[in-house]
Amino acid sequence: MLVSASEMLKKAKAGHYAVGQFNINNLEWTKSVLLTAQELQSPVILGVSEGAGKYMTGFKTVAAMVKAMDEELGITVPVALHLDHGSYEGCYKCIKAGFTSIMFDGSHYPIEENIAKTQELVAVAHNLGLSIEAEVGSIGGEEDGVVGAGECADPDECKAIADLGVDMLAAGIGNIHGKYPENWAGLSFDTLDAIQQKTGEMPLVLHGGTGIPEDMIKKAISLGVAKINVNTECQLSFAAATREYIEAGKDQQGKGFDPRKLLAPGAEAIKATVKEKMELFGSIGKAFE
Ligand code: 13P
Repeated sequence: MLVSASEMLKKAKAGHYAVGQFNINNLEWTKSVLLTAQELQSPVILGVSEGAGKYMTGFKTVAAMVKAMDEELGITVPVALHLDHGSYEGCYKCIKAGFTSIMFDGSHYPIEENIAKTQELVAVAHNLGLSIEAEVGSIGGEEDGVVGAGECADPDECKAIADLGVDMLAAGIGNIHGKYPENWAGLSFDTLDAIQQKTGEMPLVLHGGTGIPEDMIKKAISLGVAKINVNTECQLSFAAATREYIEAGKDQQGKGFDPRKLLAPGAEAIKATVKEKMELFGSIGKAFE
């Protein structure tokens, strides 16, 4: 069932677990995530970056596909369709297209401008029943053209943005999109702790979920993280399973070249990754609690 992310994240924060945001790229991705969430009775957030939206021919296509698939598959668990790292213009496009949640990433603007634009979008989103995520500090690395230096967020700036009434807040705490380098310093729990103390009930968002060790994920959840974004890890599992299928020559046996057969191992691999993350985040069985 398509819903805003507001309720599921309030419950997650109160219940000390996190809801996974899994970024989607196409029909197979979407189907794998939705079926896994339903099977495990977990709430879920489908993340769509601006690049992925463009790849899928536009946000209207994405919203129409997700809505129809949710219905045709009989998905009853709460599902939010969420714009990931949205620009100001991208947010309006997704609102119009029928998304149930948006992220405005104003982290590259001076804080006053981030506040002003976030404030405007909070009013528009809430008026239409959508949830909204904002960002302070930046996520290191690159995702679909969004590049961040990875500086840690200032807890006072986080409070200023949280006070605007956003539903979830992404704060840079040393996290990085994509694979973590060997010399990664780890998450800054001092920063996260200070942010949670300033922002209280606000569900915090941990971007860059790929490759963060389990103990750090658990500690982040204990310090107020209620949403964790995973993108690269599903891509890696999909690619590995597809490579294995082709390297075994299975695409050349019988009708193994049929796209429904060729893409099946990758789709199953995404399901396994999503399941593993939901177990780690503690969201299994929480759909209707
Ligand atoms: P990863 O690609 O590192 O999993 O990060 C995903 C993310 O944060 C989406 O915004």
